Amino acid sequence: MTTTSESAEHPTPSSAARLLPGAPVAEAVLAETAAAAARLRDRGITPSLATILVGDDDASAGYIAIKQRQAAELGFASPHVHLPATVAQADLHRAIARFNTDPAVHGILVQYPVPGHLDYDAALLTIDPDKDVDGMHPLNMGRLAVGLPGPLPCTPAGIEALLAYHQIPVAGREVVILGRGATLGRPLAMLLAQKRPTANAAVTVVHTGVPDWPRYTRRADILVAAAGVPGIVRPEHVKPGAVVIGAGVRYEGRRLLPDVDEACAEVAGAITPRVGGVGPTTVAMLFRNAVRAAERANQ
Ligand SMILES: NC(=O)c1ccc[n+]([C@@H]2O[C@H](COP(=O)([O-])OP(=O)(O)OC[C@H]3O[C@@H](n4cnc5c(N)ncnc54)[C@H](OP(=O)(O)O)[C@@H]3O)[C@@H](O)[C@H]2O)c1
Repeated sequence: MTTTSESAEHPTPSSAARLLPGAPVAEAVLAETAAAAARLRDRGITPSLATILVGDDDASAGYIAIKQRQAAELGFASPHVHLPATVAQADLHRAIARFNTDPAVHGILVQYPVPGHLDYDAALLTIDPDKDVDGMHPLNMGRLAVGLPGPLPCTPAGIEALLAYHQIPVAGREVVILGRGATLGRPLAMLLAQKRPTANAAVTVVHTGVPDWPRYTRRADILVAAAGVPGIVRPEHVKPGAVVIGAGVRYEGRRLLPDVDEACAEVAGAITPRVGGVGPTTVAMLFRNAVRAAERANQ
């Protein structure tokens, strides 16, 4: 027999969890960004997100075009450099250096991937950390760790925004993150443990070093899948009624394979959709980082 307190702790699984789409979150972040950009333009400052594309990959060119359209809609300048596929590493660094020293440029994005002979991570290290709109430069990871202002890693910041937008309480609750990768799990853990109303959580990070990780995920109020292993999170890993954020994905060709098995929606109280969850918030954060960089550069 189930006692009252057990029922409260383990409510009957709902047959359909509330969906937590990313698109309205992105729209809200972009609306704030557009307003901040307008305030800067009133002061004679046009926020600017510079892009660098290496080679002629159609998909990469398409992603740049999307960002340029978005930049135009937000009232940003978007200077662009297109380098040939055969460019030398030093020439890529020189293109970054020109944007680093241009005071009219506030954010720099090198489109991933770059041709195989180039070292993408080495190029990122040459970006001025104050213009690092991805928020992935080691200096910005350090700023995040000690709570200094700076560009935030986009996907973790997008997840915090998604939880806040959908009014999911985070403070004081147990968040378990499956994955400690440098782009997602690790910075997200730092972000959600910060002393701030939309964070302030008890955060646990699990990974391959914790083979009994389901023991932790089953007690999570908020479970974030950040492993990049399709279907790794199954219903039996989720506490009934919990919030499940599916951030990890793997692409097979154009097919997107999420970490979160779709049957988790039968157990979770709220869950990101398989497509259109965390992704849209990540792109919005690029622009938020850029406008904040412009604000900081013109304080
Ligand atoms: N939605 C978005 O916009 C967005 C943005 C960025 C990244 N992502 C996705 O997020 C995922 C993680 O990215 P990342 O760069 O952080 O990846 P990563 O560096 O490869 O990290 C993956 C993490 O998952 C853990 N893991 C893998 N298999 C596991 C298993 N069987 N059991 C337990 N833990 C396991 C790994 O553990 P170990 O550390 O022990 O190896 C590692 O900590 C990827 O799928 C990526 O595509 C999505």
